[in-house]
Amino acid sequence: MPEAQHSASSVDSPRPAVEKHRRHKPLRIALFGFGTVGSSVARILVESKPQELKLTHIFNRNVARKRVDWVPEGVVWSDDADAVLGSDADVIVELAGGLDPAGAWVRRALEAGKSVVTANKKLIAFHGVDLERLAEAKGGHLKYGAAVAGGIPVIPGLEQGLAGDHIVRIEGILNGTCNFILSQMQEGAEYAPVLATAQAKGYAEADPTEDVGGFDARAKLAILMRLAMRVEIDPEEIVPKPITTIAAVDFSYARDLGCTIRQVARAEHFGDRLAATVGPMLVDLRSPLAWSQGTENMVIVKGQYGGNVVFSGHGAGGHPTAVAVVSDLLAMAHGSRRVEVPSAPAKVGAEFEVPHYIRFLVADRPGIVAAITGALAEEQINIRAIVQKAGYPADALPFVVTVEPCKSSALQRALAKVREMDCMLVEPLDLQMLENGGE
Ligand SMILES: NC(=O)c1ccc[n+]([C@@H]2O[C@H](COP(=O)([O-])OP(=O)(O)OC[C@H]3O[C@@H](n4cnc5c(N)ncnc54)[C@H](OP(=O)(O)O)[C@@H]3O)[C@@H](O)[C@H]2O)c1
Repeated sequence: MPEAQHSASSVDSPRPAVEKHRRHKPLRIALFGFGTVGSSVARILVESKPQELKLTHIFNRNVARKRVDWVPEGVVWSDDADAVLGSDADVIVELAGGLDPAGAWVRRALEAGKSVVTANKKLIAFHGVDLERLAEAKGGHLKYGAAVAGGIPVIPGLEQGLAGDHIVRIEGILNGTCNFILSQMQEGAEYAPVLATAQAKGYAEADPTEDVGGFDARAKLAILMRLAMRVEIDPEEIVPKPITTIAAVDFSYARDLGCTIRQVARAEHFGDRLAATVGPMLVDLRSPLAWSQGTENMVIVKGQYGGNVVFSGHGAGGHPTAVAVVSDLLAMAHGSRRVEVPSAPAKVGAEFEVPHYIRFLVADRPGIVAAITGALAEEQINIRAIVQKAGYPADALPFVVTVEPCKSSALQRALAKVREMDCMLVEPLDLQMLENGGE
């Protein structure tokens, strides 16, 4: 890990606003955003009536259409962000999403010495370090336990429970939309109809690019890397691969290899070198990663001393995510401070040394396998298996080559040559094979 000046989510500076209220009266809570998660947070606060927390304001644009009769009368409904930011609320709970204007609200609240709870992974992935410094300087708290894996306490688990270990690897299923699509495809469905079902059920956006393109998982991985590996990376340095290239035939070949396919976000320390990637990968059916179904999330972290720890459960949905938000609020009300998490800026690469699955779709002719094996041999890459299922037409023949662990860069050089062959009907599909998940 590079040495540099450390930023810290510190534990020692005074927290006047929250401390004062902790001792004397409940924390006054202003919700920003009354959508799926915001309304669930309100529901829990209203039904559970935690004595340490008091819902005082609900802000949303065009708020009149959002009003519900189960929110107590004294709560102020507003579509004036300035007024709510200037109110006597102690904590702003930002649940509108996106970088702007949510980022500006959070900054202004922290500037004013208020505390903030948010579930906004994008904001935290890109600006979390700065915002934590601001909270620190102004005597407030910033908590974002719901920003990764929704209701699964991965973030508090890393901040507290695993702070004593040195985390060397993270492997996670961090996007419920992709997991829903891929676990349905595992049962024989095709990509397009499953995406349509996911959209109809509200699991996928009308424009699913953030999810299926891997951008959402990349932001979450960057947050986990900072907390677990203590590195501040630019999320855009992680180049995600989309799941849209996966076809039903890949699940069929994967099954023959004792595997399935999942979108995995993965980061690992190799001595001083750090690598991270997000994309569809072959996962051994014996790995816990293969067991996650539907919209579930799962994170496996490997500690140098404690070995593997697995977190799993509902990664999204109003109520599970709201539980994480309310837990953050309760922790704040009780003055719970996280273990100091010193982190330092770091560069991240994409070089892993793992086995790969490569699926080709070709117009069959003599010499194709020889050309592919030749290109791999030139890069010193050893073939593990060549698998070709019967029953496909010769003019659109899918077949698979698996290779022994090799550097990603060497494989890319070999595939660049193979790609030139005029018999290739589509780009060869190259997937990492995760054989160590859960070890
Ligand atoms: N849903 C989940 O399962 C989940 C899980 C983990 C994390 N999160 C995160 O939680 C946050 C909220 O997600 P959500 O699913 O609750 O979203 P949502 O259902 O779309 O709710 C967002 C709410 O904020 C309001 N809003 C958005 N932009 C606004 C603006 N500029 N001014 C005023 N109001 C605005 C929206 O109003 P309109 O109704 O007018 O659009 C809506 O009521 C996001 O950061 C998301 O990434 C969600």
